[in-house]
Amino acid sequence: MYRIVSAIFLAENIKKFEIEAPRIAKKRKAGQFVMLRIDPKGERFPLTIADSDPEKGTITIIAQGAGKSTRELNRKEAGDSISDIVGPLGTPSHIENFGTAVSIGGGVGTAIAYPTAAALKQAGNYVITINGARTRDLVILEEEMKAVSDEAYITTDDGSYGFNGFVTQKLQELIDSGRKIDFVLAIGPIPMMRAVAEVTRPHKIRTMVSLNPIMIDGTGMCGGCRVTVDDQIKFACVDGPEFDAHLVDFKNLSDRNRIYLHEEKQSDEAFAHKCRLSQQA
Ligand code: NAD
Ligand code: FES
Repeated sequence: MYRIVSAIFLAENIKKFEIEAPRIAKKRKAGQFVMLRIDPKGERFPLTIADSDPEKGTITIIAQGAGKSTRELNRKEAGDSISDIVGPLGTPSHIENFGTAVSIGGGVGTAIAYPTAAALKQAGNYVITINGARTRDLVILEEEMKAVSDEAYITTDDGSYGFNGFVTQKLQELIDSGRKIDFVLAIGPIPMMRAVAEVTRPHKIRTMVSLNPIMIDGTGMCGGCRVTVDDQIKFACVDGPEFDAHLVDFKNLSDRNRIYLHEEKQSDEAFAHKCRLSQQA
C-alpha cells in the first residue's frame, strides 16, 4: 500500500497528491509516469510524476477528475492509501542545452510540462514557459513554473488573467517578435498539441509533445497505447510518451482515445450513482 502524505485541490476537479513511494522517488526522471490502481479490483491508469523528493521518499502526482478512476482518486485524502503504484515507467524526456526552450502546459498538462521545464532549466537552457487555462481559476502551478523560468507567461481563453487567448497565440507572438526559439515542448489536450505543431512546423523548430493514449499495462505488452509516429507504430508507454510533434498522427490518437467513450460514460455514471447512495446513507 502507498500512503498519501498530502492531498490538496489546486483548482476545481484538479488535485495534487504527495505519496510515499521511496523507490520510485529515487529513480524517476522528468517525463516519466506511474500506473496506479486505487484498490485491487480497480482499473490501472497512468499519471505523470510531477515531482519527487528522494529524501522524503515521496512522489507528486496531479489528477484531473475526468473519469471513474480519477474521480475516485480525487476523493482520497491525506492518510488514505493507494493499493498499487508501478513505476517509474516510460522513456525520460530528452534533456540537453538546446539554447532557448519553450515549455507549454495546457490546463492540467502543466503538471507534466513543469518537471521537464525544471530539467531544461537545470541543463542550462533559457526557459520560457507558457501556462494556459480556460479561465483564471483553472491556472495551476503558477509559482512553480515561474521558479524554473527565465520568462513566464499565463494565458486564459477568456482573458480573466494574463494574456487573452490560447497558448498557441502567445507562442506565435513570441515567434513573430523575432525571438530565436530552439526547442518547444507542449503538453495538454490533443487539439492544443496539434495546433502547437502547426505553429512551429513552418519555422522548423524542434517540437516535442507528450501523448496520452489509453494505457493498460504501461510496459509494452498490451498494445493499448499504440500511436502512429512517422507512419510507424509506436507504443507510447515504452517508446514515449514524448514524440516529435511534427511526425505524430494526431487524428489517429484522437480516434483511438474515443473507442471506449460509451463504456467510460457508463462506468462514470455508475460511480456517481454509488457516491450519491453512500451520501444518502
Ligand atoms: P483545456 O481544454 O482547458 O485547454 C487548456 C489550454 O490548452 C487552453 O487554455 C488553451 O490555451 C489550449 N488549447 C486548448 N485547445 C486548443 C486549440 N484547439 N488550439 C490551441 N490551443 C488550445 O485543457 P484541460 O481541460 O485541462 O485538459 C484536458 C485534456 O487534456 C484531457 O483531454 C486530457 O486527456 C488531456 N491531457 C493530456 C495530457 C498529455 O499528456 N498530453 C496530460 C493531461 C491531460
Ligand atoms: Fe500496454 Fe503500452 S499500455 S503496450
